[in-house]
Amino acid sequence: MNVLERVRSIVGAAAPPEADRASFEKAVRPASDARHGDYQANGCMALGKSLGRPPRELATELAGRLELEPLAGPAVPAGPGFLNIRLHDDFIAAQLSQMLGDERLGLEPRAKPATVVIDFSSPNVAKPMHVGHLRSTIIGDSLARILTALGHRVIRDNHLGDWGSQFGMILWGWKTARDQAAYDADPVSELARLYRLAQDRIKGGDSAVETAARSETAKLHAGDPENRALWREFMPHALHALAAIYERLGVKFDVQLGESFYDDRLAGVVDDLTRAGLAVESEGAIVVFVEGTEAPFIVRKTDGAFTYATTDLATIAYRAAEWAPDHVLYVVDHRQGDHFKQLFEVARKWGYRDVELAHVAFGTILGPDRRPFKTRDGDVVGLESLLDEATTRARSVIDENSPELDLAERERIAEVVGTGAVKYADLSQNRISDYVFDWNKMMAMNGNTATYLQYAYARIQSIFRKGDTSPEPLREHPPVIVLSHPAERGLGIRLLRLPEVLELAAYERKPNILTDHLFELANAFSTFFEGCPVLKADSPERRQSRLALCDLTARTLKKGLGMLGIDVVDRM
Ligand code: ARG
Repeated sequence: MNVLERVRSIVGAAAPPEADRASFEKAVRPASDARHGDYQANGCMALGKSLGRPPRELATELAGRLELEPLAGPAVPAGPGFLNIRLHDDFIAAQLSQMLGDERLGLEPRAKPATVVIDFSSPNVAKPMHVGHLRSTIIGDSLARILTALGHRVIRDNHLGDWGSQFGMILWGWKTARDQAAYDADPVSELARLYRLAQDRIKGGDSAVETAARSETAKLHAGDPENRALWREFMPHALHALAAIYERLGVKFDVQLGESFYDDRLAGVVDDLTRAGLAVESEGAIVVFVEGTEAPFIVRKTDGAFTYATTDLATIAYRAAEWAPDHVLYVVDHRQGDHFKQLFEVARKWGYRDVELAHVAFGTILGPDRRPFKTRDGDVVGLESLLDEATTRARSVIDENSPELDLAERERIAEVVGTGAVKYADLSQNRISDYVFDWNKMMAMNGNTATYLQYAYARIQSIFRKGDTSPEPLREHPPVIVLSHPAERGLGIRLLRLPEVLELAAYERKPNILTDHLFELANAFSTFFEGCPVLKADSPERRQSRLALCDLTARTLKKGLGMLGIDVVDRM
């Protein structure tokens, strides 16, 4: 059950007629101070202001009308005019008991699922994936997992940049500087080398290379047989390398429709916009003017080439026709904010008004010097080497802590802990902000890290091993949950919050809301474990109840981490 939702609807039903019900309900929040209650209803404060009445008076009247039984006792007016609501221990205990037998841990099936397309990862192929691609990939993956768990219909679309100017650069390199033997041995690295060669020359001011590369791209798009054949030759290698990274990260897509897929629809988009009077000619280009933004939105350049923007418009039309989504989320670097603002505006004018188009933006990963994360030679850090290093670091910790485990198991744990640490460090940040990549912090055993949560999970498994018992009987015949110690209650209330936390994370499109919750849960578990003996509890009833709390905590950690794309291990 989503307890917050339930409390909100009770408060909403009792709201004064002058109140806007939706915002009055939204003003019910988890309490900021657990000593006074579990939830807090703040709606009377704003209402008091707009009615010119003392909020405290409104709160007292509201308290009299609230029907909180059997969830909670009477609400208590406090402070300038909010209400404290404290759930009954019996209610918490009964919910926890029910959760034990429930695989979904309290998540309810959805009456009205939404269809959500998530455009994420979307790297430009044929160049090596680097740390900048990490964020879109794992934030998008996590949002897809959260929305799926909440019962929505999710389409994961990897909108590959497989048709852009990088191919012109590679084609130029191929024709002028390729090392055939190197290509035969390792096509992906040779293509990357050619790409870097062209890039260096262009950056160094070599305009001949720039012109040549641009003309190779134009020829490719115009259907030049040689360039098309080379493109078809290069693509599978590039896709293969990408697939290996996705496999390692445990990331899957439903469709992988790159920019090239939309190529033959672009002319139609421009015609359509022109016919509708939205696109006009300006200085030889075809553009859409968008109010409030300076540069026009170019859909066809003076040389006749279509743009990133044209492709994005064609993609919107395709997705709308194919899936009729309610939402399309673009998990893309915040630097593309202006592009998306214009794109969404043009799409609305073009007729796509029923679908929410949203830019789920994120900041930059910084190195220890607080500048974009680079290797010592100034290259952007490659994703693969980053994951390798994470695994190596995790491995040395595991070798030290658990030398008794066999080699294969230590290797597997190191991969789970290493990639988990990298993903979690990213997902636990408010995605809007930049963050500093810090190995020591992200693998700390104590703190808001995946390692800490994975360790809490493994510790619970070891409690069951030590007690020579298993959680299955507890799930089949849930015991009475005893909340006699404040730490038991503190843990219990957090266990109940998973559904509401996930709704909030989905609403804000912020996985860090989930990581914060899991961190709090692990801390609550730690307090519980220090204060409440489990295997040595003073009665069999208490022992069963505490084992049940252990099991619920482990399952919540596993499910929650799973929604971040992070695995758990039974020992570490
Ligand atoms: N390939 C682009 C880049 O690497 C990101 C694409 C994002 N998705 C989109 N529909 N524009 O910058």
